[in-house]
Amino acid sequence: MSEGVGTVEASALAVRRPLIEKSDPFAIASSVRSDLVGAFAGKRYLIRTYGCQMNEHDTEVMAGLLQVMGYSPAHDEMDADLILFNTCAIRENAENKVFGEVGRVRPLKHRNPELLIGLCGCMAQEKAVQAKVAKTYPWIDLVFGTHNLHRLPELIDMARASQDTVMEVWDKAQYLIDDLPKARKEGVRAWVNIQYGCNKFCTYCVVPYTRGRERSRTLSSILEEVRALGQTGFREVTVLGQNVNDYGIDLGGPDFADLLRAVGRVDGIERVRFMTSNPWNFTDRVIAAIAETPAVCEHIHLPVQSGSDAVLRRMNRGYTTEYYWRLVQKIRAAIPGVALSTDIIVGFPTETERDFADTLELVRDAQFDVAYTFIYSPRQGTPAARFEDPITPEQKKDRLNRLMDLQNGISRTYNERLVGQTVEVLVEGVSRTNENVLAGRTRTNKIVLLKAPKTIVHQTVSVTIESAQTWTLRGQVPSTPAGVSAGATA
Ligand code: 5AD
Ligand code: SF4
Repeated sequence: MSEGVGTVEASALAVRRPLIEKSDPFAIASSVRSDLVGAFAGKRYLIRTYGCQMNEHDTEVMAGLLQVMGYSPAHDEMDADLILFNTCAIRENAENKVFGEVGRVRPLKHRNPELLIGLCGCMAQEKAVQAKVAKTYPWIDLVFGTHNLHRLPELIDMARASQDTVMEVWDKAQYLIDDLPKARKEGVRAWVNIQYGCNKFCTYCVVPYTRGRERSRTLSSILEEVRALGQTGFREVTVLGQNVNDYGIDLGGPDFADLLRAVGRVDGIERVRFMTSNPWNFTDRVIAAIAETPAVCEHIHLPVQSGSDAVLRRMNRGYTTEYYWRLVQKIRAAIPGVALSTDIIVGFPTETERDFADTLELVRDAQFDVAYTFIYSPRQGTPAARFEDPITPEQKKDRLNRLMDLQNGISRTYNERLVGQTVEVLVEGVSRTNENVLAGRTRTNKIVLLKAPKTIVHQTVSVTIESAQTWTLRGQVPSTPAGVSAGATA
């Protein structure tokens, strides 16, 4: 979770000329209504963001719109005139947490009667959440869905004039809104949407319902954004979509391999990453594009979800473990030193101990650098929520612990192998937990902590790894003067 964002890109401060690409059937003009530009000067906003990178990026877009309206970032809740909860619906515990937080900020309305409280993101798309707001949280001023983001200025305008909750949630995207201002976090890394929605309908997943069908942005519009990032000092770009290897299919091309090669050629962008790939449709063309484009990093997040074919079938994942295993081997053969990470769900309805043993075996064989592991959480409206589920919560927790133990050992071994080696690190800034320590990442997405002068922040440096833990490495920049070394607690 994060909150507040940096300053709006200079180019976004002007009311933008609408960009309509004729080749893009969804593109529409998108800018803030002229009477709302600057109309909220002096007001402050706070956005609490939950969930995935896609949500983080939506927060940047909302912050951009708000800053065009005159809002500036608040220091904290007490100081805010607008608090937005940008929510995640992927698992139930995320939802419960949000309602708790929303309730907690309600008393702030007594101190500041003009305070607007809003709920947006994936939870807002759910009919049950809309009903819960209407019944139990009628004092929430504003509810809007993932397809209504661009409407934020007008919705705020309506909410401040209304006694009732202003609720606007479109079931599906009516347009692909392509040219919204963004207030990006300061730094060297930026995230760029290339595709919205998902067509895969994995039986456990709420995303196709909350984010709609796959819609790709045009390559020219993506490249325009990436070039602007390169020109303004960003060094790393992560292209984002729920299912990036389907990029371009809805437009009839170019495809994801073409996109990676094109983004990899943009001046100033040293590193290109992508999230998330489905193993299905991870083509040889994409593997070749990663292997042959120097800027594209040797890290692939390739969610497997389960090591049991029976479970994969019930999940509607569209591939078998054999297919996945062959894909992993092809990737490792084509991209030397590649790091693979994955997502795994344990306790999917009717997952047997045998199915789970197959998952452990796959994890042992595939040797992922990192695995994000989750206990299955039933989501209303998804097919799996209706499946019989005889596994007890204790069994699920036990499986999760066993899986985490296995994976933590593998992750640690990978990191320990790096001790003594020199790796390229893009220094992102000061560590979140210790301001005397800098933090950066290797091309393979491993976090490296260093004690070094702040002058190297935002630079790419060679770092010798000195020690390793499960999640982090500690290193030293060889040219760092004696006496300044890694090893501080971060
Ligand atoms: N329960 C548990 N985990 C889930 N994920 C998606 N939906 C669910 C669910 N209902 C996990 C998947 C996905 C990751 C982002 O979240 O592993 O890849
Ligand atoms: Fe959800 Fe499956 Fe789409 Fe991923 S591919 S967003 S898990 S439906």
